[in-house]
Amino acid sequence: MSTSPTNPGAAPAIVITGASAGIGRALACEFAKRGWRLGLAARRLDALEALRDELHSQPASRATQIELLQLDVDDEDTVAPRLTTLFDALGSVEVVVVNAGINALSSVGRGELDTERRILRTNLLGAIATVDAAAALFMPQRRGHIVAIASVAAKVAVPRQAAYCASKAGLAQYMNSARIELSRHGVTVGTLLPGFVVTDIMPNIGKYPFAIPADVAARDMARAIIRRQRTAFIPAFPWRWVHPLLNLLPPSLWRRLG
Ligand SMILES: NC(=O)c1ccc[n+]([C@@H]2O[C@H](COP(=O)([O-])OP(=O)(O)OC[C@H]3O[C@@H](n4cnc5c(N)ncnc54)[C@H](OP(=O)(O)O)[C@@H]3O)[C@@H](O)[C@H]2O)c1
Repeated sequence: MSTSPTNPGAAPAIVITGASAGIGRALACEFAKRGWRLGLAARRLDALEALRDELHSQPASRATQIELLQLDVDDEDTVAPRLTTLFDALGSVEVVVVNAGINALSSVGRGELDTERRILRTNLLGAIATVDAAAALFMPQRRGHIVAIASVAAKVAVPRQAAYCASKAGLAQYMNSARIELSRHGVTVGTLLPGFVVTDIMPNIGKYPFAIPADVAARDMARAIIRRQRTAFIPAFPWRWVHPLLNLLPPSLWRRLG
């Protein structure tokens, strides 16, 4: 394990939003295993506390610094000041993972704007607020890596997921612009595109094609994050090769897939 370049002697630190469950939680466990210090954010503080207790009960992460932050990214104006307190508590931070997100089915032409607004607010505006806050904290240090958890849905149009696809495509493209802007400040930007990962985000997600457990996804993601990959499908096989084909499926086949 390397040490923090901005805090010599200390282990590197990673901040993860949406760390109370699913992929964020699995990423926290994976980076704890690798000896990183953790800044964990989500709305459910009790779930974060339970995760911290679990990690501190394991010999490998007994002494790991773990700072917690109650954060609702839908409350966009609070994101920057709250993230600043987490950075202050950690002393130095190398990576911010913008992971907090939701999903729900919605149909076009059925007036389901409330659902669609909720998805766009958390996955796009909340994520942008987090990227913006992280960039502002990293730029003066001329270092840092910001990673967004987008989705294969950023690249593939899926029926009954129009708002979700739009939120993830919007986020992926926001990251592409951010990458260009932030490069002259020494800050790097990555976008991860998971396929199906077994979490509570959607019922029965384990039955979807090529679904993988969250800890397996977290291992792949950690590798891409540490290598500072610009973009990575998770897992690379089959999504990197299959996603262009999915965009060629005729509507009748999508309807049959249900
Ligand atoms: N699972 C998949 O197949 C899959 C595939 C592609 C992309 N993704 C993306 O991966 C990310 C994580 O998803 P997941 O599958 O791990 O879902 P999950 O198990 O439902 O976890 C979502 C996490 O986001 C947090 N969150 C939700 N709304 C939030 C808000 N307003 N403010 C702060 N935190 C919030 C939740 O914590 P609290 O409820 O405690 O706030 C929870 O920790 C999402 O962005 C999702 O779109 C997932």
